[in-house]
Amino acid sequence: MDIQQLNQQFGIEGSVSFTEERAGFPIIEITNEFATAAISVYAAHVISYKPVGAEDLMYLSEDVVYKVGTGVRGGVPICWPWFGPHPTDSSKPSHGVARKTFWEVASTETTPEGATRVVLKLTDSPESREKWDYSFELAIAVTIGKTLNLELITRNTGDKPFEITQALHTYFKIGAVDQVKVTGLDGCAYIDKVDGAQVKTQAGDVAIASEVDRVYSDVPAELTIVDPALNRNIVITSKNSTTAIVWNPWIEKSKTMGDLPNEDYKQMICVETANAAKEIITVEPGSEFSLVAQYHSESL
Ligand code: BG6
Repeated sequence: MDIQQLNQQFGIEGSVSFTEERAGFPIIEITNEFATAAISVYAAHVISYKPVGAEDLMYLSEDVVYKVGTGVRGGVPICWPWFGPHPTDSSKPSHGVARKTFWEVASTETTPEGATRVVLKLTDSPESREKWDYSFELAIAVTIGKTLNLELITRNTGDKPFEITQALHTYFKIGAVDQVKVTGLDGCAYIDKVDGAQVKTQAGDVAIASEVDRVYSDVPAELTIVDPALNRNIVITSKNSTTAIVWNPWIEKSKTMGDLPNEDYKQMICVETANAAKEIITVEPGSEFSLVAQYHSESL
């Protein structure tokens, strides 16, 4: 992918330009009256969304590695067409086939409201077919405005139905993990992945005081991360999602992760908009399924 060509075809004077994080790894930089943002073409990965006058909503590891076959640590990884380990074949990659590969830029535009909309696409290839033998087109439409809007659209371009699970595995930047609360999950059942996958029921808000890895089902359309240390709430609104994953690796697991500085678990929390566990989506030939997440921050 040639940067000059990308700029010629998809650049928008004053608001969309392409740079290179490292040779061969283009980053789309977006600026408009509402926010600045950055998206890696590798993995179709939003790595920054900073509303004007506010802190970035995204956490991005300073040890992030941009390399084909490696996940981007931070921002919004796309888990698709399965979330977590493959349901029947543990030799297949965790979190599916979309997050460690290049996508294509499909379009960039300024909306009538002055927001910026960028669409990236991924279609099946011999490599994806080896791991998941279906014909598909996956698109992510990222709209950078007063809110960050993400729409992940799965199209079945083949002649047999397929089943998917999926997640927008977003790493949010927070001030102090031991002070944050995630509200909206009170009463929801969850699979506790750090306690033998036992099914439990959330009582009150979610607080983090050790490794947390939970898959919540039947979640409401709005969740909030209350972050007193950064004096803000991050509000997450979803459509067509009934699962939410809350993940923080805490101390010991962080130490095993080469691309996450040891202390950074204190400054990140993943609250993922998903359909996973019992929520399996069937997509018929010729049809599509759209998962939507929208983020904004509010001062406390
Ligand atoms: C979470 C999973 O969604 O992603 C965790 O629930 C996993 O179990 C985490 O550790 C990070 O995954 P990875 O493959 O990016 O290190």
